[in-house]
Amino acid sequence: MSDYPYAGQFEIHRTLPEDGTGHDEILTMLASMSAAENKVWESGRCSGTMYCGDHDHYDFLNKAFANFSYVNSLQRDMCPSATKFEAEIIAMTLDLMGASAVTVTTPGGLVTSGGSASIAHAMLAYRESNSANTSRANVIKPETAHPAFDKACHLFGIELRVAPVDPVTTQVDVEWVKKHIDRNTVAIVGSAGNYGYGTVDPIRELGAVALEHETGLHVDGCLGGFILPFGRELGYDIEAFDFSVPGVTTISADTHKYGYALKGTSVLSFADERLRNSQYFYLTDWSGGKYCSPGMDGSRSGGLLAATWAAMVHLGRSGYRAYAKAIFETSAAMQEAVRAHDELRIMGNPTR
Ligand SMILES: Cc1ncc(COP(=O)(O)O)c(C=O)c1O
Repeated sequence: MSDYPYAGQFEIHRTLPEDGTGHDEILTMLASMSAAENKVWESGRCSGTMYCGDHDHYDFLNKAFANFSYVNSLQRDMCPSATKFEAEIIAMTLDLMGASAVTVTTPGGLVTSGGSASIAHAMLAYRESNSANTSRANVIKPETAHPAFDKACHLFGIELRVAPVDPVTTQVDVEWVKKHIDRNTVAIVGSAGNYGYGTVDPIRELGAVALEHETGLHVDGCLGGFILPFGRELGYDIEAFDFSVPGVTTISADTHKYGYALKGTSVLSFADERLRNSQYFYLTDWSGGKYCSPGMDGSRSGGLLAATWAAMVHLGRSGYRAYAKAIFETSAAMQEAVRAHDELRIMGNPTR
């Protein structure tokens, strides 16, 4: 199979080798693959996927990870550090998401394995918390919202209604959303920003609709959650998309994107911890003992919690602001380059 990755360069293992290979040989192989693959994104010909690019930062995170890489954070009695890391990741994220504006309910959060997982946990929570009142729950997302919503609805038997977006602004048609809400609508969705265009839906208008119809509003900040707040601090004209906007009930924000942590974590923030708790899992009469988990995962990596915590505490607000500044300045330069070419078109109204 000539298109098999690294065929002819490294041995192909179709069965578990009888005798093991030495550390040095394995590490040399891995370093060679990693170096070759790094060249792809270091060329700059890459959109998304890589968010930091600073190998010193990755080395630091790898060291933080190594201290707990073998720890299962499900077993909290054995690793109080995981409770500290997770609690502080959630608290710092809630603060960034404007949770201080929430006064009536107690905000809470969940560290998940990525953006799709945060979205899935949110959809599950909306379905579960409304299960007594809905025959078949439905969710309304803008067409531009990530396929993770389609996946979650498919997995959880939720009907997904897809709202069109304005072809000029690329923002969701709020009137369409309003018209298609019914008593089984457990949540509507807005992106801040969306994957395809990076544009932000009119979150304030969606919040008003959610309040009027007494439904949830999930803001998908998987991409924007850890950069838009700093863009706002830098004075860019970015509308509030967080819990300061009335009606916003959950926000997904990916630490493994612009949070500059290792791949494998995201934070799902809830304005009301009771909504989070609605999808907690308990099995208290199992022959193997009591089994409880805060989300869909069972065993989880203590290393990823440590590395995510380390990224946030190391960078601090000023570190995130500095990265955001460089990114928004690059975006402005790219916009100028596009404007200089008649055959190219800018979609929506990007931050300038
Ligand atoms: C806006 C948005 N939401 C959700 C996701 C899904 O995140 P993940 O790939 O971490 O599951 C992405 C991924 O790029 C995204 O851009």
